[in-house]
Amino acid sequence: MDISAIRVREERLRADVEALSEFGKEPGGGMMRTALSDADLEARRWFRLRMEEAGLRVREDAAANLIGRLEPKTGPAAPCVAMGSHIDAVPQGGKFDGALGICAALEALRAIREGGIPISHALELLVFTDEEGTHYTGTFGSRAVFDLLAEGEIFKSKGPGRPCLARSLERMGKDPEKIREAVRPPSDFRAFLELHIEQGPVLDSLGIPIGVVEGIVYIDRYLLHVEGRAGHAGTTPMNLREDALVKAARLITALNRIFRSAGPGLVGTVGELSVHPGAFNIIPGKVEMSLDLRSMKKAPLQSARRKLGEAARSVGGVRIEPLLAKPGAKMDPRVMRGIELSCRERGVRWKRMASGAGHDSMTFPACGIPAGMIFVPSVGGVSHCPEELTRWEDAATGAQILADTAARIACGMLE
Ligand code: GLV
Ligand code: MN
Ligand code: MN
Repeated sequence: MDISAIRVREERLRADVEALSEFGKEPGGGMMRTALSDADLEARRWFRLRMEEAGLRVREDAAANLIGRLEPKTGPAAPCVAMGSHIDAVPQGGKFDGALGICAALEALRAIREGGIPISHALELLVFTDEEGTHYTGTFGSRAVFDLLAEGEIFKSKGPGRPCLARSLERMGKDPEKIREAVRPPSDFRAFLELHIEQGPVLDSLGIPIGVVEGIVYIDRYLLHVEGRAGHAGTTPMNLREDALVKAARLITALNRIFRSAGPGLVGTVGELSVHPGAFNIIPGKVEMSLDLRSMKKAPLQSARRKLGEAARSVGGVRIEPLLAKPGAKMDPRVMRGIELSCRERGVRWKRMASGAGHDSMTFPACGIPAGMIFVPSVGGVSHCPEELTRWEDAATGAQILADTAARIACGMLE
């Protein structure tokens, strides 16, 4: 097998990423393509056509994941070597998070095909639904495939006025009661590979084009419900108020102090706040806020969980609703070595690193499937904002390494 025959084309990858970024593009820059929104549905239709043009057999499963498949000319079709990422974006997000991963996987598949590589395993391209957690806690599509959704999760949303996955799936004409039809046995997969932007500053600051991910953080997600007493904003003296937003502010400040003093590696973020009833002239009676808590190691996370309870008790009237605890994941050493071999053969520098962002790749090791992630540099380290940027040259290098590694594994070389 001649891996050097695989030639990823930068201009084709760039054209795909640019075209995909038109779906949900905001006039002031940035993307509004949250999962299963109109923009997301249009983007999927467009991407599905690109997959079909590339010669993939495409289907959509009960969780709205898009699955494109390329069969080998000879040999056993299963288990497949899968590549993929997500098509949805965070509100006001950038055009590379997730999108670069699926476009790179598509380009890798085209390049493997054009290179005439005699694969002995099928290749798949997986486009996962709601990785970002618009509806609930994220990595929905990959968890649906491995039956890892929590009981009744698809009927829950992040708060009043927010859609749950069941409603959004119905809007697409799917039956949420049939969600388990998306489930596949782990034995369907030989390995999973995901290319993603780093979303942090390490590779860019060092001038290294490839990150080989060793592990992904533990992620806890909570809703914090803060109770106060609604009342008239003009007639209630300041000393007779129980303002839920003021309590929430105290809690946020206390949590920030706790997370800052926990040492390196632990990060905590309150990123969403809803104030009820929400008017100029009403003292807030209730506040709901999200809390995202992450660490590469378990111990600091456990300690932060305890302190979260103490902070909530000291503010009073706070109910902690745990939504999900995603276990940290280790990438497979054989897949990592495969990525590094691909880098060495192409003369590309790489660096092993951890991922502070969550990804669908977390789901695969939980089911015993070898997974690997390839990071490419984020200019200035920024992500989840309109300024997100990756140089096309780096994107193409990443796609080349992705293609080479997938081809190696699909030819039976996973050692
Ligand atoms: C996904 O982007 C996450 O890390 O939450
Ligand atoms: Mn992502
Ligand atoms: Mn993201």
